[in-house]
Amino acid sequence: MSTPVKKVPIHLQSAQNRLLIKHGKVVNEDDITEDDIYIEDGVIKQLGRNLIIPGGTRVIDARGKYVLPGGIDPHTHFEMEFMGAKSVDDFYQGTKAAVAGGTTMIIDFVMPKKGESILDAFYEYRQKGDDKVCCDYGLHVALTHWNEQVRREMEVLCKEHGVNSFKVFMAYNFMLNDSELYSVFETCQKLGALAQVHAENGSIIAKNVERLLAKGITGPEGHEMSRPEEVEAEAVNRACVIAKQVDCPLYIVHVMSKSAGLALKQACERGTRVYGETLVAALASDGSHYRHECFQHSAGHVLSPPLRPDPTTPQFLLNLLAQDVLQVTGSDNCTFNKSQKEMGKNDFSKIPNGVNGVEDRMSVIWEKGVQSGVIDPCRFVAITSTNAAKIFNIYPRKGCIAVGSDADIVIWDPTKTRTISASTHHQAVDFNIFEGMVCHGVPEYVIVNGRVCVDDGQLRVVQGHGRFVETPVYAPFVYDPDKIGDLKPVRNGTHDDYLPEQVHKITIEDKACPTPTLPDSAVSTPSVRGPRPEGQRNIQDSTFSISEDLDVDRKSCIRVRNPPGGKSSGFW
Ligand code: URP
Ligand code: ZN
Ligand code: ZN
Repeated sequence: MSTPVKKVPIHLQSAQNRLLIKHGKVVNEDDITEDDIYIEDGVIKQLGRNLIIPGGTRVIDARGKYVLPGGIDPHTHFEMEFMGAKSVDDFYQGTKAAVAGGTTMIIDFVMPKKGESILDAFYEYRQKGDDKVCCDYGLHVALTHWNEQVRREMEVLCKEHGVNSFKVFMAYNFMLNDSELYSVFETCQKLGALAQVHAENGSIIAKNVERLLAKGITGPEGHEMSRPEEVEAEAVNRACVIAKQVDCPLYIVHVMSKSAGLALKQACERGTRVYGETLVAALASDGSHYRHECFQHSAGHVLSPPLRPDPTTPQFLLNLLAQDVLQVTGSDNCTFNKSQKEMGKNDFSKIPNGVNGVEDRMSVIWEKGVQSGVIDPCRFVAITSTNAAKIFNIYPRKGCIAVGSDADIVIWDPTKTRTISASTHHQAVDFNIFEGMVCHGVPEYVIVNGRVCVDDGQLRVVQGHGRFVETPVYAPFVYDPDKIGDLKPVRNGTHDDYLPEQVHKITIEDKACPTPTLPDSAVSTPSVRGPRPEGQRNIQDSTFSISEDLDVDRKSCIRVRNPPGGKSSGFW
């Protein structure tokens, strides 16, 4: 079966195809400019001032607002069968909620059953996704077993179906052993793909679960107790060691603890090509919730790896993002209702694992990161959009506001606030781990492929409007790090003769790579709360210091330098 081809309905081809966004502050990972943006047929056609545009164009005034690349959430699990339950946010409701929160692309995970053909599982996911998505989506493929057929089908997925990343598990009953991990990483490396790892030591967890249940610890607090952070850190280290043997680039999903973050940093310093993602849940919540007296509340926070009891963990992980030790934020949105969580009422190991986050990720990270003064809007864009686009090889089509890029844009009002609640969110799930949190930063307009899907705060999505986006292998960012500084989207001017295939085109200039530099680490704490001036970030509040020894060792995996015209810790 070949990849299904999506037809764009006529009414969507013509509707609202010309748009001008005026007077906003356009934020990219490296710069903030005061440019107007002209959009036609879903693509950014012009960027600059005093643009000449056709009559009949709709104009949106973004004065006093930031204009951001739409968020990319590289980690969701919509309608996934897992631990005897099916996650309740499907591709429609999940992407609708994503758009409501300012995310314009998600990357979900094909989860084949153990022993199932990974190609068949991929086709099933395409079928589910294509008909329902309200925004663009891509697919990673999980490998829940290993054999020659899997190896052959990985090649087909990479060569024919636009898949460039495979997730393996070091926990759960479909975890792979070290020798299998070695083979997967070797195969990824040969294909130009990226290996993703769920890093936890499943054998140790199984023994801990037995011991805790035998002692009568059956409630959600046992979940975290059975998976302490050293068990996460050991697996991060092991995955990095194995990947390095075969020179396979590695992406650690959901880094949830200080120890795991430090294990990743150390592996990077030893020359491992490793990238790190943390979750919005980990940045805004902690393990104290597992001891809450209400089962819905405590079980509602159960995910793996778990939230950590150390209350300084969220700040630590945020600092790792500010320092570029971690590069990406995801939601790992995998939602189960109260009735499903109750499957583990008498045994924490049976609580379906997963939490919400796809809708609230952007606002919560803005609140914790920008509003609190730890990162600037440029770094916000890098960790919520650009870095994922680069790592999964869809940049500069996605992840930036540039001529030729898809018109996935958010007009963000940093002065407005909203209070998060399960009673008002757009997700299917009956619980929200961020309940009651007040966030600055509201997406007033969300433009998906040139269509206004949040219009002055009103959500107007169209089921099936999104497309499947292929993620080609050999991402230059991952496989050719020496050229990172030379990846350049078109930042100004017009693009009258735009052709769709030009979106992937990247200009590579013949420039020498400068010595890597690091973001400033000694900016004083602001006296008032609120977004820091662009280009400044504050890690003074940090409870730890990682700035001294980050220096040149990191260059083996990531080159960091200040771009012309702006200072940011994004990849340049
Ligand atoms: O608890 C989690 N994270 N649920 C989703 C599955 C996974 O491991 O990502
Ligand atoms: Zn996982
Ligand atoms: Zn996940």
